[in-house]
Amino acid sequence: MRFLRSAAVLAAIVGVVGLVGFADLTGELEIFSWWAGDEGPALEALIEIYEGMYPDVDVINATVTGGSGVNAKAVLKTRMLGGDAPDSFQVHAGQELIGTWVIADRMEDLTFLYEDAGWMDKFPSDLIGLLGTDDGIWSVPVNIHRSNVNWYIPANLQAWGVEVPTTWDEFLAIAPGLEAQGIVPLALAQNWTVNHLWESVAVAVLGADDYAKLWDGTLAFDSDKGIAVWEKLAEILEYTNADAASLSWQQATDMVVNGQAAFNIMGDWAAGYMTTTLGLEPGTGYGWAPSPGTAGVFIALSDSFGLPVGAPNRDNCIAWLKVLGSVEGQDAFNPIKGSIAARLDSDLTKYNAYGQSAAADWAADVIAGSLAHGFAANEGFMNDFATVMEIFLASKSPTQAAAAAAAIALQNGIGN
Ligand code: GAL
Repeated sequence: MRFLRSAAVLAAIVGVVGLVGFADLTGELEIFSWWAGDEGPALEALIEIYEGMYPDVDVINATVTGGSGVNAKAVLKTRMLGGDAPDSFQVHAGQELIGTWVIADRMEDLTFLYEDAGWMDKFPSDLIGLLGTDDGIWSVPVNIHRSNVNWYIPANLQAWGVEVPTTWDEFLAIAPGLEAQGIVPLALAQNWTVNHLWESVAVAVLGADDYAKLWDGTLAFDSDKGIAVWEKLAEILEYTNADAASLSWQQATDMVVNGQAAFNIMGDWAAGYMTTTLGLEPGTGYGWAPSPGTAGVFIALSDSFGLPVGAPNRDNCIAWLKVLGSVEGQDAFNPIKGSIAARLDSDLTKYNAYGQSAAADWAADVIAGSLAHGFAANEGFMNDFATVMEIFLASKSPTQAAAAAAAIALQNGIGN
């Protein structure tokens, strides 16, 4: 096993070397992310490639645990404001990058790297658009994750006599029967996973076009349609576990795997967790479907890494970004992570059945941007939205939540 891993890493190194060559680098490289513990193996595979190429660089894998970066982002902000930038940090493509860090002049332009490495036509142009402004390209994407996925265990559904719901109304129809059998219809975790659920419900209720209009300000959050999203969410939350707030996303996945719950709406890092950590086979050990009402829409997000202004080890970071953006790096990382490569020339034979189906959907579906994972709105809105969600979870008032969402949209420049 160990030998096989080393052989694979060596092959990857040879491939990457073919692209970028060795360099005589020393010193440190601090990589900051929230990929700790169960989320770590894919990042470690990338680091292993880097360390093979640059054995004299001391890599510091600085992680702050907490799904979707709930804790890491706060720590990062403190460090950046305090003049203690890491060499590279995880940041979502889209508004989390542009509306938070680029706008504040905290990132270096990486256009030179895209040109040197020949990447301009290796990534989808829409994705480069999300990483760029008129003044530059600001990070390197390592993956594409899908947010709107409904996870389940096929054998359990069969035993309980239920089908995978294709709409939320179908879910609401089968949920009481599941509860009667002592099964939680929908497993939920801490509050950010409710934001995550919200975007799936929003696309289901509004459709991809109107969902996009929320972000360009042409559909008001407190319109009748906006309110309808919160109404549907309130109905769905009736069928979730009471201890959600104290669970990690992995624990919500565990509830499905252990047969305590029927479904969980989570990004496809759950596929990585079930395959890499739990050793389940996609298709037989676990199943997936678009979250109810979202077939044909792919709610996307992309993890990326950039070069902060003032990074202590700039050359080491540039070498890291080259590994991250190479086809070998992406195809070492993503099959473990549950995501697909951001690059267009990835080798799909390296991906399991889930990854291959995600790649097919990514190519065919309408793409919508994730709110919970930084694509759709800046961090100001996301932070305020988390507060709106907390209030909603206590009040369950759709009109109040919709009005509050409209107010924070205005405050954070959406639609201005
Ligand atoms: C997302 C991130 C994923 C995964 C997930 C759970 O924000 O893009 O890569 O880490 O959070 O923590």
